[in-house]
Amino acid sequence: MHVKDSAPWWRSAVIYQIYIRSFADQNGDGVGDIAGIRSRLPYLRDLGVDAVWITPWYPSPMVDAGYDVADYTGIDPLFGSVADAEALIREAHDHGLRVITDIVPNHTSDRHPWFQAALAAAPGGPARDRYVFRPGRGSGGELPPNDWRSVFGGSAWTRLPDGEWYLHLFAKEQPDLNWESPDVRRDFEDVLAFWFDRGVDGFRIDVAHGLIKQEGMPDLGADGEDVLEPTKRIDHPHWDRDGVHDIYRAWRRVADGYTGERTFVAEAWVAGPGRLARYVRPEELHTAFNFDFLRAPWDAGGLRAVIDTTLEALGSAGAPATWVLSNHDVVRHVTRYGRPHTEGHGPRHDVREPLDLGLGTRRARAAALLMLALPGGAYVYQGEELGLPEAEDIPETLLQDPVWERSGHRVRGRDGCRVPLPWSGDAPPYGFGPDGASPWLPQPETWKEFTAEAQAGDSGSMLDLYRAALRLRREHPALGDGGLRWQTAPEGVLLFSRSPGFACAVNLSGTPYEPPADSEVLLASGPLDGGSLPPDTAAWITVND
Ligand code: GLC
Repeated sequence: MHVKDSAPWWRSAVIYQIYIRSFADQNGDGVGDIAGIRSRLPYLRDLGVDAVWITPWYPSPMVDAGYDVADYTGIDPLFGSVADAEALIREAHDHGLRVITDIVPNHTSDRHPWFQAALAAAPGGPARDRYVFRPGRGSGGELPPNDWRSVFGGSAWTRLPDGEWYLHLFAKEQPDLNWESPDVRRDFEDVLAFWFDRGVDGFRIDVAHGLIKQEGMPDLGADGEDVLEPTKRIDHPHWDRDGVHDIYRAWRRVADGYTGERTFVAEAWVAGPGRLARYVRPEELHTAFNFDFLRAPWDAGGLRAVIDTTLEALGSAGAPATWVLSNHDVVRHVTRYGRPHTEGHGPRHDVREPLDLGLGTRRARAAALLMLALPGGAYVYQGEELGLPEAEDIPETLLQDPVWERSGHRVRGRDGCRVPLPWSGDAPPYGFGPDGASPWLPQPETWKEFTAEAQAGDSGSMLDLYRAALRLRREHPALGDGGLRWQTAPEGVLLFSRSPGFACAVNLSGTPYEPPADSEVLLASGPLDGGSLPPDTAAWITVND
C-alpha cells in the first residue's frame, strides 16, 4: 500500500458539491431531491470523486434556498425524509462515496421554534438570549443599535413591534444566534451527534467565521463591506473573531469521539491564508475552503503566489490545502475566466464586460488540471464537470436569491450558478426532472450540448476531461496529499513537479510552451501543437525525479 492510501481520506479527497435543489428532481416538482441524488450515485462513482457535500436539506421556508434552517434534525418534505437521507448515506457508502452535510450555525430561520419562542418572550426574557437582541439608538430607540450591514444588502438589524432590534448578518428571516449562550453550544453539539449517528462523514460549516461578535458591538465605520463582498480586515467586529476557535475545538472533540475519520470543512471568508490556517490547527477543524485560489486572477504570478502562501500557511498548521474553483455563491468559472477581468468571485457581474466563452472554457479546462494536480483536496461544484457557464439571462421576475431584493435591484445575486443540471435530451428540463416538469429556475435553451449524455464518451468534452483526470489522480502515487517543487519555466508558465515522476505545466503566457525534453504527456487540457502547449493549456507529464 502506498502512503497515499494510509493517510486520512480527507487530506486528498475530491469532494463533489451537490446543490440539492438543482441536482436531480425525481418527483417532478421542479426542485431536486434525495431520491434524485440516489438515482445519480452511479454517475458520481463513475466520475471518480471520493465524497459528496450536500447543501442544506433541512426543513426551511427557503428564503435563502435552505440556508434558513427551521429544524436541524429533520429533512424538508421538498427533499424527502430522514429515512430517505439514511438510505442515501448507506447507498453512497456502498458506492464508495463519503457524505458531508451542511450545518448552518451562524443563524436559524425566523420560523425556527427557538426564534418563535424568543419573539413570544418579553424584551430581556431568557428565550431572547439565544439570539442577538438589543435596544435601538436615538431618543426613542428608533435607530439600529449599530451600523452593521447585511451581507445581502441593507441594515443587519430589524426592529420588532415591541421596540427591540435583532441582528441578522444575512436576510431578516435569518436571525443570528448568540454563541455566548451555553444552550446554543450544547444544542449544536447534539445536532452534530444526531447526523454522525446516522453515518455522515463530516460537515461543511456555513459562515464558520461569523459566530462570535465583538463585545459592545462597535460600529464598522466607513469601510463597511459591499453586498456579498468578503472582508479584508483582520480586526473586524463580527468576522473571524478569536472566540470562534473555542467552538471548533469543542466540535473537534465531538467528531473525534466517532470512528471512521469524521471531518469538518470550514466556509470562512477571511483575510488571507494566514488567518485561514487558524481554523485548521491540530485541535480544530480538518480543512477549510481556499477561496483565495478561487478569487485569484488567471495569471501565472497571481496563481503561484496563492499556491505558495496557501501551502505554507496551512502546511505550518499541519493541514492539507483545499482547492476550489466554483460553488453556489460565485459566478461559474467558465464565465469568470471568459471576461477581461478574471480576479474576484464576481457576485456583481451585472456590470457586463465582453464574454468569450470559448476562452473561458479553455482556461477552465486548464484550471481543472492545475487544481487536481495540486497537493491536498479539491472541490468540484456540480456542473463544472459539464463546463456549464453562468446563466446570465434569467429574467428579473424569476430571480430567487434574496440579494436581488435586499440590494434594491442593484445586484442580481447568485441564481446564475444555481440553475438545475442538464442531464440528457435536447430541451428543458434536460432530464433534470420528468418531462413537462418545470425547474425552479429556467434552464437556457442552449444547454443541450452541455448534458452529461451528450458529453459521455466524447473525448473532447469537459466531462471526459474530468473523468480522465480523476482516474489518473486516483492511480498516480504522486497526486493528492504531499508537496510540490517549482521548476524553471518561461515567464507566464507554471511548472511544478511532484514525486514520483510527475509534473504539471500550465501555459498562461501568450505563446506556445515546449515541455521539458523526454517528458511524456499523460493528459492535456486541449490539443497540443506538435509537442508544445498552446496558450491557456495545461498538461500532466512524466518527468525524472
Ligand atoms: C453561506 C452560503 C450561502 C448563504 C450564506 C448564509 O455563505 O454558502 O449560500 O447564503 O452562507 O447562510
